Amino acid sequence: QRTIVVAFGGMSPEHEVSVLTAMQAISSLKDTDYRLQPLYITKSGRWLTGDPLRELENYKDLKKLEEEAIECTFSHDDLGKPILLETESKGFLSKPKKHSIYAIIPAFHGSEGENGAFQGACDLYNIPFGGSGVFASSLGMDKVKAKELCMAHDIPVTSGVSFNENEWEERQDEILESITKMGFSVITKPVSLGSSIGVSKADDRKSLIDSIETAFRYDQELVVEEAITPLMEINCSVLGHGDELQTSVCERPLGQEETLSFEDKYQSDGQGSKGMASADRIIPADISDELTAKIQNLSLKIFKTFRASGVARLDFLVNADTHEVYFNEINTIPGSFSFYLWEESGMNMTDLMLELVEIAIK
Ligand code: DAL
Ligand code: MG
Repeated sequence: QRTIVVAFGGMSPEHEVSVLTAMQAISSLKDTDYRLQPLYITKSGRWLTGDPLRELENYKDLKKLEEEAIECTFSHDDLGKPILLETESKGFLSKPKKHSIYAIIPAFHGSEGENGAFQGACDLYNIPFGGSGVFASSLGMDKVKAKELCMAHDIPVTSGVSFNENEWEERQDEILESITKMGFSVITKPVSLGSSIGVSKADDRKSLIDSIETAFRYDQELVVEEAITPLMEINCSVLGHGDELQTSVCERPLGQEETLSFEDKYQSDGQGSKGMASADRIIPADISDELTAKIQNLSLKIFKTFRASGVARLDFLVNADTHEVYFNEINTIPGSFSFYLWEESGMNMTDLMLELVEIAIK
């Protein structure tokens, strides 16, 4: 039986969101011909595998879970084929196991799991994986560089000012002046994070400084962007590889405020146990066919420009009055793999995961 490894967790602040995405992936693949093997990277970077990692319930007590799970690493078997190698044995008589790897589904969000580092490790071990490679992953993780690439390809983006912690300390007044020139309101974001962590809106200089100081808790580099008002967020997912691409329907996420906060997305029911699928959204988005087609076409163009692969979600900012569309970001591993957008076209999460495996082994 072929083994698919679902890899998740990681050292990113989006760790918990990744666990939700992975549990959805694992349960959707339960009744297929594949054997599922979890690879959980703890917040401190330990690689673990084992059956207890399959149940969301067990993540409530991480200490116990880490004790029950088994340390593992990538390695090769005698024939040079990639394996997930258990490096400790649990129990008296059991020997550490070797799991041959047919393909990996990376289900991380943020930092090393989504920025290409994990994908690079897969490349080094010659392990097929479903999703974007090193190039698209690292470029997609940097909100500023992603926008610069889009600008070079005539894809519209909002204007912004980016700076790191040192620059902020050394020339705060200069930075504030260039932000003020864009005009309020503005949105402050960590450059390399997702799930709206550290993102906030400011309407004046004082709240801007607060926003910046808060965001520096999460990242050493920030971008402050002009806010689009009135704002409508529209997202679209793309699935495929090379020139064989398809787009999903569009969604319109709804936030209490104009920008979805981390709590809106994941913790609104107090548990957040359904992940991205539980956030409030309108699917298909209540926009014209014309605007839908425009966003789908832009999504295809961006996916190709980034040389993305697998399933990605493209997020756009739309001026609700003028319908001007701006690229906001690319999520190379979208929350819940955006399965809820593909369901609309008759593809359930199992089909989507099987498609990712097909793309991986191409
Ligand atoms: N980074 C989160 C999971 C998303 O935007 O889908
Ligand atoms: Mg995102």
